Amino acid sequence: MPDSLPRKKPEELRSYRFFGPDDLRSFGHRSRIKQAGINRSEMEGKPVIAILNTWNDFVACHAHFRQRAEEVKRGVWQAGGFPVEIPVMGLSETFMKPTAMSYRNFLAMETEEVLRCHPVDAAVLMGGCDKTVPGLLMGALMVDLPIIFMPGGPMMRGTWQGETIASGSDVWKYWAERGAGNLSCDAWHDLEDHIAPGPGHCMTMGTASTMTSITETLGLTLPGAASIPAMHAAHSRMAARCGERIVEMAWEDLKPSEILSREAFDNAITADMAIGGSTNAIVHLTALAKRAGIDLPLDRFDEISARTPVLANIKPAGEHVMADFFDAGGLPGLLNRIRDLLHLDCPTISGTTLGETLEGAQVFNDDIIRTRDNPVTAQGGTVVLRGNLAPDGAVIKPAAADPELLTHSGPAIVFTDQTDLQNRIHDPALAITKNHVLVMQSGGPLGAPGMPESGMLPIPNYLLEQGVRDMVRLSDARMSGTSYGTCVLHIAPESHVGGPLALVQDGDLIELDVAARRLHLAVEDTELHRRHAAWTAPEPRHSRGYGKLFQDEVTQANEGCDFKFLENDGSTTPEPGIH
Ligand code: FES
Repeated sequence: MPDSLPRKKPEELRSYRFFGPDDLRSFGHRSRIKQAGINRSEMEGKPVIAILNTWNDFVACHAHFRQRAEEVKRGVWQAGGFPVEIPVMGLSETFMKPTAMSYRNFLAMETEEVLRCHPVDAAVLMGGCDKTVPGLLMGALMVDLPIIFMPGGPMMRGTWQGETIASGSDVWKYWAERGAGNLSCDAWHDLEDHIAPGPGHCMTMGTASTMTSITETLGLTLPGAASIPAMHAAHSRMAARCGERIVEMAWEDLKPSEILSREAFDNAITADMAIGGSTNAIVHLTALAKRAGIDLPLDRFDEISARTPVLANIKPAGEHVMADFFDAGGLPGLLNRIRDLLHLDCPTISGTTLGETLEGAQVFNDDIIRTRDNPVTAQGGTVVLRGNLAPDGAVIKPAAADPELLTHSGPAIVFTDQTDLQNRIHDPALAITKNHVLVMQSGGPLGAPGMPESGMLPIPNYLLEQGVRDMVRLSDARMSGTSYGTCVLHIAPESHVGGPLALVQDGDLIELDVAARRLHLAVEDTELHRRHAAWTAPEPRHSRGYGKLFQDEVTQANEGCDFKFLENDGSTTPEPGIH
């Protein structure tokens, strides 16, 4: 711990209120710690470090977390802290229905409350699989105790039939080949054995890698932590170091509110664009910034996108996987190449500035992490679109789209929801051509509900057989960070609340011009007003339970899909009384 930093006294620790006083309640707390087999000498006067573990058997991306939690504890003990592991909701991107996104705010609530109600001085947040990252952070920010985020790390490189493959991205690719009749049933089943080769989150620049990289850039992880593959020994060492460092932070009282600034969020967006990150990051960063008391309008993403080259040649926008990224120098190497685009004086949990943590970071492969004069794309990792079809914005990831489709106009084929899409998309009677624009309604936060990752609408099999691999597709849904294609997403307001997407009909001309940031429905205003007057709002789905809470409180995509009552209103939640 740097000597220059002020250090708390033991009686100034938050946990001292629970354990220190000579009274009945403290007796109860101490005796129950002893009930767990802990001697008073092992914890007295030490910071209590919560380790929030999002492990469960369904979250295969976190299969190594029980071991990592022990490694974090090792670091905590060695640094003179008292570790306490607390399981919190694991959000399995694959298994949770209707979508893990429905439960991001649930995890945020749980994180906030378990930190607030327990005798905790600081916390290590263990997450990785997509929504666990924003969920943990959104909750922890509201308690504002010192935190370190321990990223779960990407899976090892997958290989199949001699080719490098990646979870997510190559599933979509080979599913299209199967639809085109180019992949046998046996081959498809064999792919299933290889596509997810072990613990760790998806090894593309999907939402997990994007969000952990963003978290590192915000200054909330140890330097380089986000790029370390889950099964690399460096990942275990990083976990132990998280344990050591969080004890120092507890004494320093270094809180996220001292780290997260408008400039830190600009850095996060810059990193997101430079890595060709997931479109999901826009929703999560918007929500996270609001929790930090910072307004982050969609246009800020577009401003930063316009000045930031995509340098990470990682699937789905590029060719490689996260293990290659790590070997090539990882996020620190990449960020060092765009130092001039970053606010280098932003503080980090290391006690140093971002600029200091990047000093000396190298790149060892200029194909995987491109140079500034040879980017994957010169700008526009993610672009924000506006127009009469998306008054509150929509997003597209041009880096993962067919460049020829980025300026396109074509007639709409409209599907009223995911079920309608699945039932009819492959019906030759629809006579869809590659120039049509596929439109799906009811994919938004309320409509689906939960805004699932269904925005990479499938291409009709008969077009796949003709060799078509991309089309312009529109929805108010999200798209997996591992997905690709000319998919316009997050259209706001969503169709379920009567947004213009609800008014689109078969045959309407839709105009997309990504360079001009424009998404336009070429229908006269008078006709749109007529359609809107005839539109009726759907009946509410839920009358009780979490579904009702979600239905009543979730905000639109451009607002971050947080719950209104959880947003930061500037008030201070009182510390719980000890009675
Ligand atoms: Fe967990 Fe992709 S399924 S990160």
